[in-house]
Amino acid sequence: MKIVTVLGARPQFIKAAPLSETLRKSHEEIIVHTGQHYDYQMSDVFFEELGLPKPNYNLKVGSKQQGKQTGEMLAGVEGVLLKEKPDWVLVYGDTNSTLAGALAASKLDIPIAHVEAGLRSYNQKMPEEVNRVLTDHMAKLLFCPTDQAVKNLAREGIIEGVVRTGDVMADALFFHAKRAEYTGTLEKFPYKSKSYMLATIHRAENTNNLSRLQEIIEAFAQIDSKIILPLHPRTRILLQDLDIAVSKNVKIINPVGYLEMILLEKEAQMILTDSGGVQKEAYLWKVPCITMRDETEWVETVQSGWNTLVGANKEAIVAAILKYRDNPMPEYCSGLYGNGRASEEIVTAIESK
Ligand code: UD1
Ligand code: UDP
Repeated sequence: MKIVTVLGARPQFIKAAPLSETLRKSHEEIIVHTGQHYDYQMSDVFFEELGLPKPNYNLKVGSKQQGKQTGEMLAGVEGVLLKEKPDWVLVYGDTNSTLAGALAASKLDIPIAHVEAGLRSYNQKMPEEVNRVLTDHMAKLLFCPTDQAVKNLAREGIIEGVVRTGDVMADALFFHAKRAEYTGTLEKFPYKSKSYMLATIHRAENTNNLSRLQEIIEAFAQIDSKIILPLHPRTRILLQDLDIAVSKNVKIINPVGYLEMILLEKEAQMILTDSGGVQKEAYLWKVPCITMRDETEWVETVQSGWNTLVGANKEAIVAAILKYRDNPMPEYCSGLYGNGRASEEIVTAIESK
């Protein structure tokens, strides 16, 4: 079989790495990078670290207004699909690259396989929510990381082609956890275990809204712990442009590679984030997580008591830290995101279709 994989943003390189490796054992894969992310630390580093093959095509679309960016990707992917004539188009997650890849395939009547299908925040203001709903409704195979995702799809009438596979991000974490420790990353690691908190901020809802961003920065200033903040360029540019300073306990660093990131997560006391992937990784590492959003797609982390939704509310952020500090963590339920074999299940499902 010939499969075209469309990706373009940081979490997609991580999701694609384990699946691409499994897929290539018996099939031909053509990788199309839309160019949505392009800085070395947002793109190339993941191909180098995770053994993801260099893209066959790079559309170099870059940063643009949402519609223009998605439109240029759509036209670019369509050109590749016309030339390559694949049996399947594989898309990941919920970014503009996901939607563009799915839409291009749909217009050419090429079946779409969606990895990380069925997630919902039920917040239509998020570009990601629109991207994932539309992609799910175009897909022929829908690979769900969680039971909740299967239920969400059923509620929208999508039952055929739905497969509960577990999460490819868990595959990646289980596979690379040891590598991160043994490939020298740990020796270079400058932070003492459990001496700091790890934070990330990049979501549009927090960065497009100045008062939310300020509230988060002010909450960080009230925390009596060092906070390591590998900062997404979107947020870094904003802080610079608006001349917003962070408090002394916050150490801003450039975005890091995956191996360093998962070590930073593992060794953190707590994680504060608005990232989807980082919430799950916190859970897999058994590190308490505080999610600076009003809702989450990864509801099982919250239900389990290991993740707390605080919005962008200063008091709620500080209160959640104290709650974790003052109380024992609840019982841990393993296997919520599968057993590290999601990639194999996905390839088997594609082969049997
Ligand atoms: C995108 C996804 C989001 C995902 C995130 C992962 C959409 C709508 N959003 O958001 O779901 O969580 O990726 O990180 O697709 N920039 C750089 N260098 C880069 C990439 C981006 O400087 O290599 C800056 C640019 O100023 C750009 C901004 O970051 O305008 C935002 O980038 P964009 O890809 O539009 O959205 P993300 O916030 O990264
Ligand atoms: N990540 C990384 N380096 C960083 C920040 C995040 O490797 O500096 C990884 C993180 O471990 C996770 C993924 O990127 O695997 C999450 O991507 P991101 O937060 O950009 O997007 P989201 O998951 O919110 O869509």
